[in-house]
Amino acid sequence: MTHRLSPSLLSADFANLIEDINIVNKSDADWFHIDVMDGVFVPNISFGMPVIKHIKAHAKKPLDVHLMIVDPNRYIKEFADCGADILTVHYEACTHLHRTIELIKANGMKAGVSLNPHTPVNSLEDIINDIDIVLLMSVNPGFGGQKFIESSFTKIAKLKDLIISSGANTIIEVDGGVTLSNAKAIVKAGADVLVVGNAIFGAPDKCKAIEYLKQ
Ligand code: DX5
Ligand code: ZN
Repeated sequence: MTHRLSPSLLSADFANLIEDINIVNKSDADWFHIDVMDGVFVPNISFGMPVIKHIKAHAKKPLDVHLMIVDPNRYIKEFADCGADILTVHYEACTHLHRTIELIKANGMKAGVSLNPHTPVNSLEDIINDIDIVLLMSVNPGFGGQKFIESSFTKIAKLKDLIISSGANTIIEVDGGVTLSNAKAIVKAGADVLVVGNAIFGAPDKCKAIEYLKQ
């Protein structure tokens, strides 16, 4: 199967979200990547449930919600209720990660776990079979438009090895600094899903950028 593309609305025009939502709806992109930041886990605040509810009303593709918040257990049901299809939490933000994953699934969503650049892939060794998606951060989370951390290539390969040796069905999503110039190499390294914000919504022709990134 070819790779999936999850455009990150963090770089969209928040005063005219519907236009960017419709660009994604009409394109070959697969999911909507929705970045929720609490100003505690990351040094930035983005948006929350009221905005996501409105996105859901217009989105014709699954919502891939990436929680950059502390103690995400508090809000799992709320994110399900406002339309998340995939819910990704940070490994670094969960004391009882197994419980959190079970809770996400019990609320009818696919469960994702994200790793910050410094968190080793083998931290997931004992839980990889329970996870639908691993979201590898290839920048420090908090902001769009940052530079891809090159050592992420090695991390993708290590994660791929872990998934294969565990016989897991987990897919690999890469988030941060993905551009038109490095996307191909990232897919080649083993990414199943590319998250792209700035390189789509900051491009002069957003549709062309999506088309190129899906090739
Ligand atoms: C960063 C977010 C990303 C961000 C990616 O913390 O998790 O999803 O939107 O943006 P780009 O593609 O611009 O690096
Ligand atoms: Zn993200």
